[in-house]
Amino acid sequence: MEIIITPDYESMSKTSAEIIAKEIRRKHDLVLGLATGDTPIGTYRELANLHKAEGLDFSKITTFNLDEYLDLAPLHKNSYNYFMWENLFKHVNISPHKVFVPQGNTDDPEVFSDWYERQIRDAGGIDLQVLGIGRDGHIGFNEPGSSFASRTRVKGLYEQTIKDNARFFDKEEDVPRFAITMGIGTIMEAKKILLIANGEAKAEVCREFIEGPVTSQITASALQLHSYAIVILDAEAASKLKRKEYYNWIRDNKHIVRKQIGR
Ligand code: PGA
Repeated sequence: MEIIITPDYESMSKTSAEIIAKEIRRKHDLVLGLATGDTPIGTYRELANLHKAEGLDFSKITTFNLDEYLDLAPLHKNSYNYFMWENLFKHVNISPHKVFVPQGNTDDPEVFSDWYERQIRDAGGIDLQVLGIGRDGHIGFNEPGSSFASRTRVKGLYEQTIKDNARFFDKEEDVPRFAITMGIGTIMEAKKILLIANGEAKAEVCREFIEGPVTSQITASALQLHSYAIVILDAEAASKLKRKEYYNWIRDNKHIVRKQIGR
């Protein structure tokens, strides 16, 4: 994993948006995996800015979102589909028929999940997957104990996740207890992965998934097994890392590293 430590939320967002934009410029029909939550809002704002300022072109890209609450209709104001339109899609020239978000109110989540996996495959697989991380180490809604081989399916949410996400709802009881989420196996098949995290509340889990053992108890730790994963943290999220100096040294000598690994 390449660890990039930035001073604050704004620079984390700018750095991640630049990486995504570079991939879009490199491949106009990029297949982009997307995440929701507070963390990527700044990144999406930056991408919208790049679209406006430089004409960054989204017209040919296909997107697949990681997850969606079960039973929420796509236009529900708390749905992740709604979030994506509000925070990114409506600000750029994306083709609505190339946007995929799991359908929370599907009649048959199992059939839907298989269909979603097929759409990803038919699109040629995900080129770049953007991830946030939950305080319990989840990526997507792959809560502790999720199999590293898991595919898109329904998962029950952890109590902590329900509490953390209650801020978006009128009251905690309204937070759905289940979600449809890509599996760890699905995520790990992305050619490149970009995980972003900010804030002190994520410091402990960032130390665990970056420097701790690979374990299904912290599902983000699976990224240690990925061949091309970039992690961008702000200073607070990086505050408990033990090998910060080393990551910074690598960053400052990136031109040498790039030459070595051909990036
Ligand atoms: P957050 O959520 O960005 O709102 O902190 C991240 C996550 O749960 O994956």
